[in-house]
Amino acid sequence: MLTFSFLTLFPELLAPFASEAILGKAAARGLIGVNLVNMRDFADNKHAKVDDTPYGGGAGMVIRVDVAERALASLPPADEVILFTPAGERFTQRTAEELSEREHLAFLCGRYEGFDARVETLVTRELSLGDFVMMGGEAAAACVLEAVARLRPGVLGDEASHRDDSFSSGLLDYPEYTRPPEWRRLAVPDVLKGGNHGAIARWRREQALARTLARRPDLLPGAGLTPQDSAALLALGATLEDLATWGAPPPPAPRRKRSRTPKPGPGL
Ligand SMILES: C[S@@+](CC[C@H](N)C(=O)[O-])C[C@H]1O[C@@H](n2cnc3c(N)ncnc32)[C@H](O)[C@@H]1O
Repeated sequence: MLTFSFLTLFPELLAPFASEAILGKAAARGLIGVNLVNMRDFADNKHAKVDDTPYGGGAGMVIRVDVAERALASLPPADEVILFTPAGERFTQRTAEELSEREHLAFLCGRYEGFDARVETLVTRELSLGDFVMMGGEAAAACVLEAVARLRPGVLGDEASHRDDSFSSGLLDYPEYTRPPEWRRLAVPDVLKGGNHGAIARWRREQALARTLARRPDLLPGAGLTPQDSAALLALGATLEDLATWGAPPPPAPRRKRSRTPKPGPGL
């Protein structure tokens, strides 16, 4: 089981993520555990005050490091203690994959101006969701919970279903379609209705390559491209120099047509 412990001032914000939909079922089946810890319970004053004014002045309040320390000490040891902060390393699918192999993750969710900087001595990593500032770490923690938990065996019904996801395969996902077969004159591509699994797999790979080339070419160097991918990328307008920049292998050599040497006829 992978247990997620959230240290937060607003546990009620996170509760639905643990009790609803697929994660709720995974928790009920014992595949994941969710532990909501209210840091206010670890204040050492009768007003349950967890923050104070910043040394040096300035706006806003800062969460006390001793409160975070006591809240963490109330937990069984965690494999990783993660602080959410805009100054952290950018959270990616690779980080989600790494975290999904742990047994206990503790998440420190900030509020106000964040934690006293000395909290960094208590954590194993700092994560950011991106270059924007939210009001608290709870939404960031919920994103990481969703991304990590779905990689645990048994959480998604079909183990294969996350393998082709954007970023898992190294590429953006291919486009998906369902009924109706035609909507506002937009038809589902014929290849998907033909039942030829080889042709469908080739079409999907080409679509994933085309989308990634158009939208996120920065992903291509890490995408584990094959010679067939290189041929498809050239057909999509990439150049041989592009392939070299991405570290892509050369496309397969074009098959030479065997020239039949005419047998010498009689009399030659
Ligand atoms: C208002 S923010 C504090 C921002 C801080 N003063 C700064 O500029 O870096 C309050 C809390 O929200 C969370 N937070 C905000 N934006 C975030 C982001 N992009 N990634 C991760 N956590 C974030 C952090 O836990 C942070 O302590």
